[in-house]
Amino acid sequence: MAYIEIKNAGKTFVQGGKEFTALEEVNLTINKGEFICLLGPSGCGKSTLLNAMAGFAPVNYGSIQIAGEEVSDPSVKHVTIFQNYGLLPWRTVQKNVEFGLEAKRLSKAERKETAEKYIELVGLSEFSRSYPRQLSGGMQQRVAIARALAVDPEIVFMDEPFGALDAITRMKLQDDILELCRREEKTIIFVTHDIEEAVYLADRVVVMTPNPGKVKSVVEVPLHHYRDRTSGDFLYVRDKIFELFNLKADTYIEYNI
Ligand SMILES: Nc1ncnc2c1ncn2[C@@H]1O[C@H](COP(=O)(O)OP(=O)(O)OP(=O)(O)O)[C@@H](O)[C@H]1O
Ligand SMILES: [Mg+2]
Repeated sequence: MAYIEIKNAGKTFVQGGKEFTALEEVNLTINKGEFICLLGPSGCGKSTLLNAMAGFAPVNYGSIQIAGEEVSDPSVKHVTIFQNYGLLPWRTVQKNVEFGLEAKRLSKAERKETAEKYIELVGLSEFSRSYPRQLSGGMQQRVAIARALAVDPEIVFMDEPFGALDAITRMKLQDDILELCRREEKTIIFVTHDIEEAVYLADRVVVMTPNPGKVKSVVEVPLHHYRDRTSGDFLYVRDKIFELFNLKADTYIEYNI
């Protein structure tokens, strides 16, 4: 049985008195340890699907199961990283990373030690006593990543976590997240609207299209773990995925690169 199993999942919202279909008949299975990118233009339902998987706003049709259980609420075994970092401004870096650990049965010393380890992993040891407002956006996002990974989650949900960052910081953080996730063997569900980011990060890319939000294709990225954005193979895969968005058929397309 797959680790995450999404069957005929659908979600509607009421907008201006009318029913609006944000997600229609999504079918997807995800294995433990996979890095999955949900890719598509604004409004195609990426966040809706992610929030449903993370248990914040369950679907109203079909089902989403994780490890054999229907998702209905957020689980302490999973964490979510949002675009706006979600740090507590009145806490230092160290105390922000300790925050998630407060729900765990750890001694104060264990909490401190675990937080220090993850702050070091994201390269911010020097800033552990700083407050979020004293850090750049990229550094704040690193704190959010440290805080998320410190609780040793089984799944990390990320909703456009690098969307607000400049291109160079973004590339650095993409490498950091790949490195950390390989080391710790996490299952990652990562939302992006950037094709290159998806091809750089994912084992499989879930290509979504809007009106109504649907999965158009699931593409396995046939590249080595360590990817080179300038290589011919990389650009080939990127172009193939780009082509998918221009194909007219509104049904699921089998697509092997
Ligand atoms: N709480 C809500 N109430 C009403 N409509 C909603 C709600 N949340 C999302 N929608 C609608 O569902 C559609 C999908 O929204 P969603 O936020 O999932 O898109 P997205 O792919 O994440 O877009 P973006 O890239 O802009 O973040 C949109 O048309 C949006 O207006
Ligand atoms: Mg979104």
